Amino acid sequence: MTTPTGCQHCGDAPASESTAEPTATPSQPSRRRFLQSAAAAATIGAAPHLRAQTQAQAPASPASQRNPVVPPRPVTLTVNGRAYTLQLEPRVTLLDALREYAGLMGTKKGCDRGQCGACTVLVDGRRINSCLTLAVMHEGENITTVEGLASNGALSPVQAAFIEHDAFQCGYCTPGQLCSATALLSEFRNGTASTVTADVRARPASLTDDEIRERMSGNICRCGAYVNIVAAVRAAHDNA
Ligand code: FES
Ligand code: FES
Repeated sequence: MTTPTGCQHCGDAPASESTAEPTATPSQPSRRRFLQSAAAAATIGAAPHLRAQTQAQAPASPASQRNPVVPPRPVTLTVNGRAYTLQLEPRVTLLDALREYAGLMGTKKGCDRGQCGACTVLVDGRRINSCLTLAVMHEGENITTVEGLASNGALSPVQAAFIEHDAFQCGYCTPGQLCSATALLSEFRNGTASTVTADVRARPASLTDDEIRERMSGNICRCGAYVNIVAAVRAAHDNA
């Protein structure tokens, strides 16, 4: 009569006895016990390494500690001849200070990265993209927004020319176009050359359409009202 003897290679019990704990003497450990012991030893050996890895991957410190928030402080901006004292964090752009804090919503946010010109304002007569500069940098300077171009209830020559020549469609780019064109006329009167001026060492002879297009090239109009914008700027120049 034959008796089940189990696996001849590892000594494990036969399949019919697989749920029972295999019997083994200290001098003859089963394959299962050997594998369990080896796995336990490997885990213990790897533990210090795993702990070191976990410590290396842990963040050094929370983001709030690395970049502490600088509290707001009073910043006084002179906009369209009026002083605005605003509580601003140093990171607030001039564009956001004008729109969100001073409530002057005429200046528009298009791209917020210096590509469209919708946010153009005048600072001491010079046109800048207000999305690319911090408000705290402009204390003590005279800022002019589209709300400040008219005076005594009368439109500026550039504003009147834009209406006369229908130089807009949706109007979103128009505040920036108006501020930019206002500065353009001053720059031209002061003899500033552009990249299309034939001789940059001499005053540009006349404000041609090419000069206007080049000098207004920082102001994008998604409606494509460029032909009328150029006509309006030329008219404002000619009527000055
Ligand atoms: S919003 Fe400033 S350049 Fe577009
Ligand atoms: S009028 Fe619409 S973007 Fe210029």
